[in-house]
Formats: sequence, C-alpha cells, structure tokens
Amino acid sequence: MKIILYIVLAAIVIGGISGGLHLWKVAKKNAQEMAPFAELKPQSLDKNKKILVIYYSLTGHTKDIAERIKAQTNADLYAIELKQPLPTGLMAYYQIWKQYKDKSFPEVNGTMPDINEYDLVILGSPVWMYTVSTPMQSFLKRADFNKRPVAIYSTQGSNPGTFFADMKKATKNANIISEIEFNNLPQKYDEALNNKINKWLVQIIEKVK
Ligand SMILES: Cc1cc2nc3c(=O)[nH]c(=O)nc-3n(C[C@H](O)[C@H](O)[C@H](O)COP(=O)(O)O)c2cc1C
Repeated sequence: MKIILYIVLAAIVIGGISGGLHLWKVAKKNAQEMAPFAELKPQSLDKNKKILVIYYSLTGHTKDIAERIKAQTNADLYAIELKQPLPTGLMAYYQIWKQYKDKSFPEVNGTMPDINEYDLVILGSPVWMYTVSTPMQSFLKRADFNKRPVAIYSTQGSNPGTFFADMKKATKNANIISEIEFNNLPQKYDEALNNKINKWLVQIIEKVK
C-alpha cells in the first residue's frame, strides 16, 4: 500500500516538474519570438482589398486573431459553427479525441461564404492533436477555393505539429500565399501581437495587389 502511495506521489511530483519546465520553456520562446515586434511601428494597410477571414474557435483565441485582423483591415468574418456544439470541459477533449480516432468529423452549420467575392481569404484554426481542428476539416471538405489567394494562420499552445502541411492538403484548389502561427500569449504581448499581425497583413495584401 505504502509503495503505491510513493509511486503516485513520485508521478505527481515528476509530472508537476516537467509541466512547469515545459511552461517555462514556452514562455522563454514566446518572449524571444515577440521581442522584435514590440517596437515595430504598424504600417497603414490598403483597405480597398476585400478580405474574408474564415475561422473556427472553441475557446476564443482564433476568434481574437480574426477580430484583430478585422480591426486593421475591415475584413468580413465568417465563423464556422457546429450543428451539434461540443460539450464543455474534459468531455470536449474526449469527443474531439474520438472524432480523430474514428475519422468522423462533425457537421458544420450554415451556408458557405461566396469566396469569389473576395481578393483574399484568410483561414484560421486552432491546432488540435498536432493537426487541423475537426470543424475546420469539415468546412474544408465542403469548400472550393477556385484558385483564390488564401493565407493560413494557426493558434496553439506551443506546437503546431503537422498543422500547415495538413491544412494545405485539405484546402482544395487554392493559391496558398502565406502561413503564420500564433501561440497563445499573455496580455503583456497585446501590442506586439497587433504588430506581428500588421506585418503579416502588409506582406499578404502586397501579394494580392
Ligand atoms: C482538443 C485540443 C487539442 C489541442 N492540441 C494542441 C496541440 O497539439 N498543440 C498545441 O500547441 N496546442 C494544442 N491545443 C491548444 C489549442 O490549440 C490552443 O489553445 C488554441 O489557441 C485554441 O484556439 P481557440 O481558443 O480558438 O479554440 C489543443 C486544444 C484542444 C482543445
């Protein structure tokens, strides 16, 4: 009995230490990555381009990036929504894990946006299980990009895995012009994050001129 208790305690201590170490490494990497954006002067953007941001967001991070893009460009936003919303908490993780395991991606709601109306389409999705979120995969199954310019962003804790390769494969008939990743960041990086987005937008809007 005592031995089991020691094993459980040791597992908790080791888990706590490795979790803390991981968070510390991610925080250090974020600080290094965001430092160059802190002092960057945002450039004004060509607002004549019609931009559509199509995103899926479960907990708000991907939506936040979409809204920051809208604030800088007046882009239209299209939120992918599920016919059957996911449960909350740990049950959501279980259901998501099951969707990947069974390759049974959830049905999405609503009419598809008219991609041909836009000069540029931006696709945003969270990374789930090192790949594209299942709702975005369901959306992409129904979409045809008709050779339009498409830029892709991810949001994640720290590791996008094969997200971009998988996303490119699933985005049919698109002219993919750029990709960028956004780690979830604490509020102190707010301005640097806007500057990072601004720099990216300048580059991708330039490409569709
Ligand atoms: C089911 C699930 C799986 C996840 N898998 C990863 C992962 O593989 N790598 C990673 O860095 N973050 C992972 N995350 C964290 C999310 O990618 C991250 O919090 C993202 O910004 C969430 O976007 P949202 O708030 O728009 O839903 C995962 C989150 C969930 C819910």
